[in-house]
Amino acid sequence: MAVGTATACAPSQGAVAPSSAAAAPASAGVGTSTGTMGAPGIGDPDFPSDGNGGYDVRHYDLRLSYDPSSRKLAGSATIEAKAAQDLTSFDLDLHGLTVSRVAVDGAAASFSRSQDELVIEPAQRIRNGDGFAVTVDYSGVPEPMHDTANLGRYGFIATPDGAFVTCEPNGAKTWFPSNDHPADKATYDFRITVPEGLTAIANGEMAGTPQTTAGKTTFVWREKHPMASYLATMTTGKFQVRTGTSAKGLPIYAAVADSFRGSLDTLFTQTGKITDYWSTVFGPYPFSSTGGVIDDYAAGYALENQTKPIYGGFSPEPAIIAHELAHQWFGDSLSIGRWRDLWLNEGFATYAEWLWAEHTGQGTADSAFRRYYENAADPMWAYPPGAARADDLFSAAVYNRGAMTLHALRREIGDQKFFPLIRAWADAHRYGNVSTREFIALAERVSGKDLKGLFDAWLFQPKRPAPVM
Ligand code: ARG
Ligand code: ZN
Repeated sequence: MAVGTATACAPSQGAVAPSSAAAAPASAGVGTSTGTMGAPGIGDPDFPSDGNGGYDVRHYDLRLSYDPSSRKLAGSATIEAKAAQDLTSFDLDLHGLTVSRVAVDGAAASFSRSQDELVIEPAQRIRNGDGFAVTVDYSGVPEPMHDTANLGRYGFIATPDGAFVTCEPNGAKTWFPSNDHPADKATYDFRITVPEGLTAIANGEMAGTPQTTAGKTTFVWREKHPMASYLATMTTGKFQVRTGTSAKGLPIYAAVADSFRGSLDTLFTQTGKITDYWSTVFGPYPFSSTGGVIDDYAAGYALENQTKPIYGGFSPEPAIIAHELAHQWFGDSLSIGRWRDLWLNEGFATYAEWLWAEHTGQGTADSAFRRYYENAADPMWAYPPGAARADDLFSAAVYNRGAMTLHALRREIGDQKFFPLIRAWADAHRYGNVSTREFIALAERVSGKDLKGLFDAWLFQPKRPAPVM
């Protein structure tokens, strides 16, 4: 977000052209392919080269070493996957960096590069249904993604003392070879080595105390719950760290760059309080710890990195923390299968900001809804949030009109159905992939009402819906 404004990210007011009004089918799943060559994309119509087809990743084992003075990253990534077809070749996504060796199940494999695709030909054909492990050794100076539309800079971003690593939507490939699309979630092990005195922060929990030898410290982190690649991080630098537990007993890891040391205790306390509160509204917290990181890189946005949202160069207000922590349920535990459905992340997290305001006596969700509704000239009326556009992905419409959709639904079905619906949604798809179609179906089932007209007007029409009673 632009620091000091009301929403969490940096929703643009982008120019608007009506997108397809039709609700398209469910999640992307594994892309189609030709013969025994895995497809170079996972099948997301708006991001055709993101992710890959032909296999499903189960686990990433990432061994990484970063030296801030030379900005060099050295990595060895082992990816455990299961073939979804016979494979004589398959792709991983990788942006820049130099690959020195690829092995499949221990045997050297040949490989080539083509834009951001690493094409791998194993010595032996992989059979449909078989598990396999591919190891990629690589190194180089990572180059972040730079998007001139509205994504800004993201991926692996070097800072003077380390790196700020935020990868939504497709920047994981700037630091490890991956199936870089949220439709293929996996568990992660990280072993990150940095110069002594620096801290390496990844997702999940630390396994053991960091070990220092010969001036270098290795941090081992493990995320044992499935995670989308864009939520993975290896943020490094000089950090002040505070650990402990929330009132409900959930472990908290809070870290701030030195220049934000005055914000550490507030970040720690608010993070625990808000995570605990959301677990009473959305249902049990999906992961094994919560947390937050403030780095001194002025990204202008925050990102809901799994278990540890990161705030790019600002001390977040509680509303922003509430937004990023709501994403732990909506976005992180429940992940979209294609980017067009992004309102299922951002509409929910923005609505959570309104719920937080309501909870803390700072105005009702209804008043926020009305404020937006009254502005008939808002460009969001021309942008149907149910079809987020690749060229204006994080549009204010996806955030605010997405949140308004939930509020219109709440008014239509009442609090007695709305809050159980939200909990049922989080519960039914925990750790999985979701689509708009599935949300509408569940809303109709829970409420016993035909809601097609409401969702069509709020999500898919390029105009302001009729007033809600
Ligand atoms: N999902 C983030 C949030 O809502 C925003 C990420 C923006 N990403 C970007 N590349 N600009 O907090
Ligand atoms: Zn968000």
